[in-house]
Amino acid sequence: MRSTFTTAALSALTLNTIAVAESVTKCSGDICFSAAVPTTSSSGNGNLYFQISGPTSYTWLALGSGDSMASSYMFVMYTDGSGNVTISPRLGTNHQMPSEDTSSSAAKVTLLAGSGVNGDTMVANFVCSNCQSLSKGSVSASGSSDFIAAWKSGPALDSSDKDAAIAEHDSHTAWAFNLQQATISSDANPFVASGGSNDNSGSGSGSGSSGSGNNSGSSSSGVIEDTSNMDTPKLIAAHGVVMAITFVILYPIGSILMPMLSNWVVHAMFQTVAFLLMWAGFALGVISAHRTKYDFTVTHTLLGTVVVCLMVLQPALGWVHHTHFVKHQKRSVVSYAHIAYGRSLMLLGVINGGLGLQLAGAPGRLVVAYAVVSAVIGVLYAAIKLTTSFRKRRGGGANGGSKIPGRRGDKYAAGQEVEMPHRPYGNGNAGQNGHGY
Ligand code: HEM
Ligand code: HEM
Ligand SMILES: *[C@@H]1O[C@H](CO)[C@@H](O)[C@H](O)[C@H]1NC(C)=O
Ligand SMILES: *[C@@H]1O[C@H](CO)[C@@H](O)[C@H](O)[C@H]1NC(C)=O
Repeated sequence: MRSTFTTAALSALTLNTIAVAESVTKCSGDICFSAAVPTTSSSGNGNLYFQISGPTSYTWLALGSGDSMASSYMFVMYTDGSGNVTISPRLGTNHQMPSEDTSSSAAKVTLLAGSGVNGDTMVANFVCSNCQSLSKGSVSASGSSDFIAAWKSGPALDSSDKDAAIAEHDSHTAWAFNLQQATISSDANPFVASGGSNDNSGSGSGSGSSGSGNNSGSSSSGVIEDTSNMDTPKLIAAHGVVMAITFVILYPIGSILMPMLSNWVVHAMFQTVAFLLMWAGFALGVISAHRTKYDFTVTHTLLGTVVVCLMVLQPALGWVHHTHFVKHQKRSVVSYAHIAYGRSLMLLGVINGGLGLQLAGAPGRLVVAYAVVSAVIGVLYAAIKLTTSFRKRRGGGANGGSKIPGRRGDKYAAGQEVEMPHRPYGNGNAGQNGHGY
């Protein structure tokens, strides 16, 4: 590595002293992305140089401008089947396979020397002449520029068709480059030493392309480190996980604990923990929405915000119900409000999680898993609810002929709580020992 660098640097120095490349590089494992801006391009138009490199064990690798698929202009790279690579300019669409941009305003890209398949590494060095003035996803050469990347492992695509079908990525990432640090003095391919040395083109970006020294051990250069903030994809995943756990698992468990244990303290404490977690998930969601620029323009973020805000009433309704029940030993309208309102919001939250997965373009199996887990919990909830109310009814011997469990009127009927003031939740001791109500 070091000797490769030295050779490259020396050849660059001897052949063109001022053309030492200062590209910036971001690596994710064995895949690297680099960018360089000739001084003549820093004023807002002109050529931008990019490099994508990685093992041939990937079907495709892609670099995109912006911070989400929808706002991105992408360059997808794959082997062309004859020892070189195809670089395909594609306009990002929201979580669908981007296809080749054949419009008149498409990015003008040209593959450069040093591109090709070299052993088990593939490299695309390319120049884009209009990437600072695209209709969508323009790259700004001054200062911080957001980029996304994605890749898919698998067999070589071996296609020179720029519109080749690509399968959904198995990973993606996002970062920002400081393109002001990526200045090169001459408007020429910075990824090969002027002598055209082969090692340089094959060795990925970090070593050969950066003239500044020892970045061989680090995974990135010129990357604007956002150490206080997670990568956007991680942030979104954290938001999704926290929200899904809250709405699909914790709220339903906390709710069903109520008829099961008839202990309002346990229920209230459990739901309060879930409630706090929900707000943490909301904060992550708001930051994600800001980063992805969805903000409050899509159903998922709007409905999610409404659900989260309406949930504020729920603990209050629970408390009002509780104090009323302690006093009157029966359910009031607030009780039904707390129950029906709570169930509705839980359901809306679960549905909204599905919308979130859809928005995030989550893989099908994740969506299926989410739906299955939600359905199983829903069925369990109903089943526990039915058996506890059936037990209550039998235990109380009340309610005459109405023993059909699950009849809508029965579920919410004043029933046991009114007629059995000392067994408010069908649990024999709750009312008397003071732990219940
Ligand atoms: C965000 C917080 C909360 C949520 C999501 C929530 C949700 C629910 C749900 C869905 C039920 C109906 C369970 C069923 O299907 O039978 C329920 C029942 C109940 N909740 Fe909450 N709850 C919350 C907070 C509280 C608090 C803070 C209290 C008390 C101070 C409370 C007291 C009760 C009581 C006493 C019942 C039983 C009502 C009855 O069956 O008559 N809840 N809760
Ligand atoms: C009931 C409340 C909510 C639930 C259950 C929920 C759940 C989810 C889930 C499961 C995902 C998919 C995550 C992934 O695939 O990694 C997601 C994505 C997302 N959510 Fe939420 N969410 C809720 C509310 C919100 C709110 C209030 C906002 C913002 C104001 C928000 C913003 C987002 C954003 C920006 C994404 C990512 C979309 C993308 O990848 O392009 N969510 N959410
Ligand atoms: C790949 O194509 C580019 C552009 O035509 C060329 O400069 C480069 O030398 C080619 N690489 C190989 C390995 O043939
Ligand atoms: C080389 O790496 C070390 C440790 O990462 C760093 O402290 C030093 O500044 C680097 N030198 C150059 C010239 O980049």
